[in-house]
Amino acid sequence: MLTRPDMIRPEGSRLLDVRDLHVEFRTRDGVARAVNGVSYSVGAGETLAVLGESGSGKSVTAQAVMGILDTPPGRITGGEIHFRGQDLLRLGEDARRRVRGAQLAMIFQDALSALNPVLSVGRQLGEMFTVHQGLTRRQARARAVELMDRVRIPAAKQRVGDYPHQFSGGMRQRIMIAMAIALEPALIIADEPTTALDVTVQAQVMELLAELQRESTMGLVLITHDLGVVAGVADHIAVMYAGRIVETAAVHDIYKAPAHPYTKALLDSIPRLDRKGRGLTAIRGLPPDPLRVPTGCAFRPRCPLAQDVCATEPPLHESGPARRSACHFWRETLDG
Ligand SMILES: Nc1ncnc2c1ncn2[C@@H]1O[C@H](COP(=O)(O)OP(=O)(O)OP(=O)(O)O)[C@@H](O)[C@H]1O
Ligand SMILES: [Mg+2]
Repeated sequence: MLTRPDMIRPEGSRLLDVRDLHVEFRTRDGVARAVNGVSYSVGAGETLAVLGESGSGKSVTAQAVMGILDTPPGRITGGEIHFRGQDLLRLGEDARRRVRGAQLAMIFQDALSALNPVLSVGRQLGEMFTVHQGLTRRQARARAVELMDRVRIPAAKQRVGDYPHQFSGGMRQRIMIAMAIALEPALIIADEPTTALDVTVQAQVMELLAELQRESTMGLVLITHDLGVVAGVADHIAVMYAGRIVETAAVHDIYKAPAHPYTKALLDSIPRLDRKGRGLTAIRGLPPDPLRVPTGCAFRPRCPLAQDVCATEPPLHESGPARRSACHFWRETLDG
């Protein structure tokens, strides 16, 4: 149902290509370089997980892609965002809004504040069709019920007139997903879509997202700070630290052998079935203050491998088309 022939891209052509993106926030205390040269790409039918501790710039990058950055205080100071071949940063506001409405969709962490509390969910879902496709209210309501069925909300027909607060957290997140897929977008960005839910419901919602994505050629950017949810869902991972991407790799490669000490530290801090018997290690120290990011490698104050050379910008080591690591000691990390 979600497949459209024009979504199928020739091989090598990326759906979303973020290139060297820089975003700053001007605050009273100084300039926070929230995003500092981020590049990542997603192809049709692919899932990219963007991982990193709180404050690493995951959401700000997503907001820049969606065109919903808080401006001011935020400002894009460099880079390009290519979506289906056009640089979104060069589009006018009207063209941008059209892309955002129909081709790019976002799912937020907190469904309750993202949904309108005074409109029934059927009305909100239906508006996607009345506004964007000119359907009548009655037709739109029928489509709303279909969508609710599709995201497996029980008794959709009876519940289409209910309000957001009448649904559980997990069901509300399903409604958010239904809104996002309504117009069959080419790309969905899901920003910590399951963080507010309990573990069982988290797994169900992730499974639903993964399934919808598998059935279509939709691209998915999945933002999370939970490496545990990534394994079964994503194709590639981009690991962010202090506004930069420190490692990108195929999921299976990163689990096998991380090439950046920060990724390794993240992996060591989650329980894993394949590492039974080994204790968990929390990452020591705190992420840097965004107003005072250390020069060179920003992870250096917390890194067990750090040496003097780390005060200089680490080279981006490429060991394959999809594998990059920004570490002077990537080789030692891989071997360790
Ligand atoms: N409106 C704003 N004004 C000032 N600084 C901001 C604003 N929004 C974000 N920032 C700063 O940008 C940096 C990146 O924030 P971002 O929200 O992208 O982090 P994140 O990786 O999504 O973290 P989390 O996992 O907590 O959601 C942070 O240091 C944050 O303080
Ligand atoms: Mg965030």
